[in-house]
Amino acid sequence: MDPLKTLSDLERRAELGGGQDRLDRQREGGKLTARERIELLFDPGTFEEVDKLVTHRCIDFGMDQQIVPGDGVVAGHGFIDGRQVFAFAQDFTVFGGSLSETNAAKIVKIMDLAMRLGAPLVGLNDSGGARIQEGVLSLGGYADIFLRNTLASGVIPQISAIMGPCAGGAVYSPAITDFTIMVRDTSYMFVTGPDVLKTVTHENVNKDELGGAMTHNEKSGVAHFAVDDDRECLALLRDLLSFMPSNNLDDPPRASTSDPPDREDEALDRIVPPSPNQPYDMLDVIHAVVDEGYFLEVHRHFAKNILVGFARLDGRPVGIVANQPAVLAGTLDIDAAVKGARFVRFCDCFNIPLVTFEDVPGFLPGTQQEFGGIIRHGAKLLFAFAEATVPKVTVITRKAYGGAYCVMSSKHIRTDFNYAWPTAEIAVMGPEGAVNILYKRELEAAADPAQARAQKIEEFREKFANPYIAAGRGFVDEVIHPRETRRKLITALKNLENKRDKNPPKKHGNIPL
Ligand code: HXC
Repeated sequence: MDPLKTLSDLERRAELGGGQDRLDRQREGGKLTARERIELLFDPGTFEEVDKLVTHRCIDFGMDQQIVPGDGVVAGHGFIDGRQVFAFAQDFTVFGGSLSETNAAKIVKIMDLAMRLGAPLVGLNDSGGARIQEGVLSLGGYADIFLRNTLASGVIPQISAIMGPCAGGAVYSPAITDFTIMVRDTSYMFVTGPDVLKTVTHENVNKDELGGAMTHNEKSGVAHFAVDDDRECLALLRDLLSFMPSNNLDDPPRASTSDPPDREDEALDRIVPPSPNQPYDMLDVIHAVVDEGYFLEVHRHFAKNILVGFARLDGRPVGIVANQPAVLAGTLDIDAAVKGARFVRFCDCFNIPLVTFEDVPGFLPGTQQEFGGIIRHGAKLLFAFAEATVPKVTVITRKAYGGAYCVMSSKHIRTDFNYAWPTAEIAVMGPEGAVNILYKRELEAAADPAQARAQKIEEFREKFANPYIAAGRGFVDEVIHPRETRRKLITALKNLENKRDKNPPKKHGNIPL
């Protein structure tokens, strides 16, 4: 026997996965194969595969006759933009990408290595779930992965791409990771599939309606990004990683930029409309301020009344949290609070400074919100901003009313620099609501209640709806011209580069979940 030929044969069999027919079917379905995905994810020629020759150990159900080297998952490490990253790609052509004992052990091995070396982990999911023939060995494999996802949380960035099925308990690994990307039309995630639903709850839904990319991007918020195909997914993974450090002890990588740090944008001086009830698009503010106008929006389709995402200021990655007055007047509701809190905590884990743009009339009123628990969900955002020790800078563009003033990274919860535009209105509540409460009886007795009310509102607005009382107290450090926002933020972040802050020693806090 020629040892070199044996090795080449085994390697060829591993590369063929479940065989040419199944690879062809994968491509016909609009999907790339596991190996093609890995190749596109990493810098060319840098991927080092581990356990290419691992095989399953199951002898039941005729499995001893079906042995594929690699056992349905490609795992290893390589470089993305020159930085080390670990990844696994489930191969749907081998037993439907299902998770066996050995297949799980391969994933666990690279997770442990990623933790030891302080490098991000990317999971490319395309699997029918637990390998049915292996029973509890497969379930144990999942639990081994979940444990490591949990321990790695906050230590290394973990990103999941769903590029095919992800069903049953398998959904809980992506759910623990930091970001989930779903590919439209070819991916779906659910705990219980359409067939079971039909029997148990008599609901008739197809896979896409139940757990497709847009269901989880728009409705459930389980996924953070929706992309059109595998190539876009892999390009997005690379882009997303460029904003993150390799681990919690590193700083995010600074990029070069040709955008001048002192660039002013006159349009910002006129962006807030004269009427306080008129909306404007906070995305225009963000685009005008950040490097090259590039904002990688996270959770774009979910809770659109708050915006979160990554950008750079003079090359430094920042996490941006912004109220969106163009949707629900920028009020905070349950979904917005949860979306914002999760993003703030990610940035805080990974030393990414937070920039907050604030225009919020308050929390969304209503029984739906109260019964749904806006109190405990709203508290998540407050808790997240308050516990965050990364550099924090806030710009109040217009409304900062009531509890939302406190929540949105106010000075009182350890924000380092708080700026306000001259258009800012900082008060316990808006003039209309305040006048109704303060002058109820007086207005009822007035000869012309409508006119008296209008006059009181104007008086209240004059007195309170401005940034100068807060600035007089030092709750706002400086009232700035909108056009100079970029320069002020860049200067603030530069000055905060050596910020050292910490929370009291504890096992962990008890964020209101
Ligand atoms: C073993 C599996 C498998 C599995 C698919 N295959 N899922 N083999 N274990 N879980 C095999 C099929 O037998 C088939 O083999 C090949 O993969 C492709 O599957 P198809 O069904 O032909 O593909 P498709 O029509 O695209 O349907 C894909 C699918 C379906 C929707 C994923 O295969 C499916 O429903 N699979 C089972 C899903 C499931 O219930 N998994 C367990 C969930 S519970 P051949 O040889 O024909 O190519 C779970 C618990 C996790 O995961 C616990 C964590 C707490």
